[in-house]
Amino acid sequence: MIYRKALLYEAPFFCTFAAMKKLYIETYGCQMNFADSEVVAAILKDQYTLTDDVHDADLILINTCSIRDKAEQRIHKRLRELEALKKKHRALQVGLLGCMAERMKEELFETEPILNFIAGPDAYRKLPELIAQSAAGETQFNVLLSEEETYDNIMPVRYDLNGVSAFVSIMRGCNNFCTYCVVPYTRGRERSRSPQTILHEVEQLLNDGYKEVTLLGQNVNSYQWEDKTFAKLMAAVAEMSPDLRVRFATSHPKDISDELLETIARYDNICKYIHLPVQSGSNEVLKRMNRVYTREYYLERVRKIKDLMPDCAISTDIIAGFCGETEEDHQQTLSIMREVGYEYAYMFKYSERSGTMSAKRFKDDIPDEVKTRRLEEIIALQGELSLISNKRDIGKTFRVLIEGVSKRSVDQLYGRNSQNKVIIFPKGDHKIGEYIEVTVNDCTAATLFA
Ligand code: SAH
Ligand code: SF4
Ligand code: F3S
Repeated sequence: MIYRKALLYEAPFFCTFAAMKKLYIETYGCQMNFADSEVVAAILKDQYTLTDDVHDADLILINTCSIRDKAEQRIHKRLRELEALKKKHRALQVGLLGCMAERMKEELFETEPILNFIAGPDAYRKLPELIAQSAAGETQFNVLLSEEETYDNIMPVRYDLNGVSAFVSIMRGCNNFCTYCVVPYTRGRERSRSPQTILHEVEQLLNDGYKEVTLLGQNVNSYQWEDKTFAKLMAAVAEMSPDLRVRFATSHPKDISDELLETIARYDNICKYIHLPVQSGSNEVLKRMNRVYTREYYLERVRKIKDLMPDCAISTDIIAGFCGETEEDHQQTLSIMREVGYEYAYMFKYSERSGTMSAKRFKDDIPDEVKTRRLEEIIALQGELSLISNKRDIGKTFRVLIEGVSKRSVDQLYGRNSQNKVIIFPKGDHKIGEYIEVTVNDCTAATLFA
């Protein structure tokens, strides 16, 4: 399957390079973590070069995710696997970064003796010290959260070697406290990065030949710097070059303002794709989740999107089996999915996270087999909706930014259209990084063919 650039929950990503002391980074979780690993590579670039061979590394960094129990179990399993390497290579250092470091703190050293140090998401500038001190023998940790840190003056080391598309982190943290979610605890409070440093980073990317940027934040549309809203920032980025595509993730429905939608509609180079997680179609469940909107409000926003941009694709995140979810609530989730007709969805079973409001206030009372069945129904419905949406595209012509060679055949390339759909087409004499107009002639639920 072609890796979807926009979101990579729980998908590991391996990075590469070579020489002097060698660093291997493995990244789990969301794109924010992916972008952070690029910041970490930049902070350590004077001491380490990157390797894609874990056996070759002097330092292994695992950038972790805590969003669901499964994500954490996967990391514990990975650390088990790495123990053998450490036995062979005594000087090897292993550090754990990211959300698990923040959630579990020094408690992690008890269960994971392989670790030399741990660093939370706001402590990466301290990595050189943590590495040096832990090399001297004692385990080290820094999990302090900051109200200001945005790593704004650090130019990330990109390891997306196709050089076409880059993530630019524009805000960090979350103030929303959805009751099920660990992110406000692992990432701390919301803070935005100055527009000057964002525009400077985009300019560098343009100079390096990049053709697409994805502006990133846990709640990207609550970006605010003095009087600069997210809509104004995005307009400024879009105006830098008509050949630069602008994407963004993730939007909270509460902040999807008319100003923002009008800005997306106004600029051809702002992609017509909005990831707008709904989580549930039931007002009762939304209330217990503290999502602060209703089904009716959400549908009104979707109508506004479609009125302004009939060709805009919308995707979502859905949680199946949240505390107290009745069969009727579940039916409402299925019905809102049909009503919106999502192009794509990321779908999960509710996983209780200790310390969150839902863990304290509500009972995780939906049996696992019921969660599984509901999730399966949601996945099956989304399969139908994606196929319907893709079939509608047959015969249409799209502008595609070419991102790579298709895994199916070296004679085929792939790219995405504005709507974030992956399109595969014959190579001809086209090159990665070019724009091309293609007409869709076939599809599956996941891919368009042209
Ligand atoms: N900030 C983003 C999403 C961050 S987490 C937003 O609010 O949209 C990505 C997704 O993981 C969430 O949208 C939610 O669907 C899911 N998620 C978060 N906590 C979860 C939990 N405890 N159990 C299951 N899924 C969860
Ligand atoms: Fe988590 Fe909600 Fe914040 Fe998203 S908005 S990161 S789901 S608390
Ligand atoms: Fe996971 Fe942390 Fe992202 S919990 S989803 S890596 S913000």
